[in-house]
Amino acid sequence: MRATVSATALFDPAEIVAAVQHVRENLHVVRRESGSVSEIGVALGELPQGVDWVGTLPPLYPEWLGDRSFAEAHGTRFAYCTGAMANGIATVEVVEAAARHGCLGFFGAAGLLPGRVAQAVDRLNAEIGGLPFGVNLIHSPQEPRVEAEVAEILVQKGVMAVEASAFMRITPPVVRYALAGVRRDEQGAIHRPRRVVAKVSRPEVARQFLSPAPESMVRELVQQGLLSPAEAELGRRLPVAEDVTVEADSGGHTDNRPLVAMFPAIADLARQIAREHGYTRPLRVGAAGGLGTPASVAAAYALGAAYVMTGSVNQGCVESGVAPAARALLAKADVADVAMAPAADMFEMGVNVQVLRRGTMFAARAQKLRELYLAHRSMDDIPPNERAKLEKEVFQASLADIWAQTERYFTERDPAQVERARKDGKHQMALVFRWYLGKASRWAIDGDPARLMDYQLWCGPAMGAFNAWARGSFLDDPAQRSVGQVALNLLEGAAAITRAGQLRSFGVAVPAEAFGFVPRPLAV
Ligand SMILES: Cc1cc2nc3c(=O)[nH]c(=O)nc-3n(C[C@H](O)[C@H](O)[C@H](O)COP(=O)(O)O)c2cc1C
Repeated sequence: MRATVSATALFDPAEIVAAVQHVRENLHVVRRESGSVSEIGVALGELPQGVDWVGTLPPLYPEWLGDRSFAEAHGTRFAYCTGAMANGIATVEVVEAAARHGCLGFFGAAGLLPGRVAQAVDRLNAEIGGLPFGVNLIHSPQEPRVEAEVAEILVQKGVMAVEASAFMRITPPVVRYALAGVRRDEQGAIHRPRRVVAKVSRPEVARQFLSPAPESMVRELVQQGLLSPAEAELGRRLPVAEDVTVEADSGGHTDNRPLVAMFPAIADLARQIAREHGYTRPLRVGAAGGLGTPASVAAAYALGAAYVMTGSVNQGCVESGVAPAARALLAKADVADVAMAPAADMFEMGVNVQVLRRGTMFAARAQKLRELYLAHRSMDDIPPNERAKLEKEVFQASLADIWAQTERYFTERDPAQVERARKDGKHQMALVFRWYLGKASRWAIDGDPARLMDYQLWCGPAMGAFNAWARGSFLDDPAQRSVGQVALNLLEGAAAITRAGQLRSFGVAVPAEAFGFVPRPLAV
């Protein structure tokens, strides 16, 4: 997108709007005096005659948004990540598309067995080996073995970046991954071959990741032979993670916090921790949650985000792991078409996830299940009319049938659950209700047409904001939404909007139109 270089000063609002989009050109700010009237406008290309030069904005490449050290550390072109999406919704294809477009994508390993994660990594190594990519390492308090096994696979297969999420405390597997292979290079600088990108929404968790690993944990890993004494020694000078992503109101698990409130607090904390430890390398704080338009991406960079991470909008792309019918639903969402609904993994504790509300009954049905769970001691306590309604509308089977299926599943995977459920009717009810919550995600992945009204789609307000932005453009059509085009357009648009803001700071009367950016097919 090169500008036609014209040696004319642009004072016409429409021309200023157009000029703002030429982010790769020098943009001169000029003043024209006529009588008592003084106007500030812009000029592209050569400085025209008859105007005073106020200043020149140099090119603003989308590559320069964010902290340049992010791109250096991770080997990307842009300071832009696609976040992990559980159950393989962030597919190998999503991660490959991100890599081919100069971004860092994280494979959605949560909820998958270690063997499936290993297969995905093998495919990524074979297909895009050499380009940057990462995998999610999710904290699994109920299945600590899975967490350790996945971390080991990622170490052994040479995965260079891990998105660590759902951690309340640092665990040995995350430290093992973070410090394995740490060494001094020929110049004596500490080289870390693997990087943890930690997702946080609370300062206390950010602090743990930005600090060196707990000494007792490092010592134990050395005793177990999982770290060498040399790795441990160097590791004492390094934070567990040099990158933390502040995740605001997002799709899926979220504390629903606003980015503008949370980001500055955690960025301040990072600066304080860097001073406390005297680190020689920068700590980076990235932003996620609610980023679905160029304006929101520009705002995140303006807050000081070292990098941005998108989630919901990538689920709506052709490479995502959900079925086309589910993507079509996502494409109809408006910004307020989301709701909090009980999470399958922490149903009993009352933890919620943010999901799509429009076009599916999932949120309402899942909330009903939670109410019934709170109100009754067992399924036998549920009044017959309620029970009949549940069986007809939600389960489409008798509760006895669902329990039989659930029992078979847990007998194989975790027999202790079955034992407990036999003695405790409330636990049995929780397992049966969780059957629905778990299946609802599967139906959206498989595209089960009989269960369209039950699709559970984790989704934040970013999706509706994206849809509103894309309306009328080529990205309106769900079939045209690709991870690469979405990223390139968000970044190009963020650069244009940043430039509009720069011009305002020079006193140019920048029209509101300059803060919009219409999606267009962009070359890599
Ligand atoms: C469908 C879906 C599944 C997600 N699963 C995970 C996950 O397994 N692990 C994780 O760290 N984040 C997960 N996230 C969060 C994203 O990685 C990202 O941080 C978030 O979506 C950003 O906010 P946004 O949805 O507003 O763009 C998920 C998000 C979505 C939409």
